[in-house]
Amino acid sequence: MDLIKKEILLQRYTSAAELTAADRTLLNAAKDAIQLAYAPYSAFYVGCALLLANGEIIKGSNQENIAFPSGLCAERVAIFYAGSTYPGVTIVSMAITVKATEQVVAEPAMSCGACLQSISEYEMRQKQPIRTILQGEIGDIYISEIGTRSFLPFQFEMESLKR
Ligand code: THU
Repeated sequence: MDLIKKEILLQRYTSAAELTAADRTLLNAAKDAIQLAYAPYSAFYVGCALLLANGEIIKGSNQENIAFPSGLCAERVAIFYAGSTYPGVTIVSMAITVKATEQVVAEPAMSCGACLQSISEYEMRQKQPIRTILQGEIGDIYISEIGTRSFLPFQFEMESLKR
């Protein structure tokens, strides 16, 4: 037996003032998207913004449903919209931020496994990771330059399905 070790590095910034103007704009777009979330059941509002290579910014927010599993996370709302509206246009970066009614979220909320899996498919298709910028309602900002690889280091690869 031996151990397989993967090292994951995330950039951490203590304030939005340290970010590039483009990243700050994207994070602000994600914060704007929170206003359009529909989350009456969880009271946890998630905003996601994507920067496309054509300069377009796409926003998505979580959309819940009384039949709970029928709702969808902000990341998938945004990325599926991008994929269906701008097919073939590279998604350069993604910002995700949250706000909750009952507590102040001071840590970034990591994307759920289903969102990571969906996002990773787009990374594989475009052969480029999607830089990811994460922040809670307040607090430190994390950036992954290698996209979902930071959070799903052992991914299910398309190669695994090839016959
Ligand atoms: N949620 C997201 O929008 N993104 C995630 O990656 C995790 C969870 C939403 C789903 C649900 O509306 C609420 O947050 C609470 O789970």
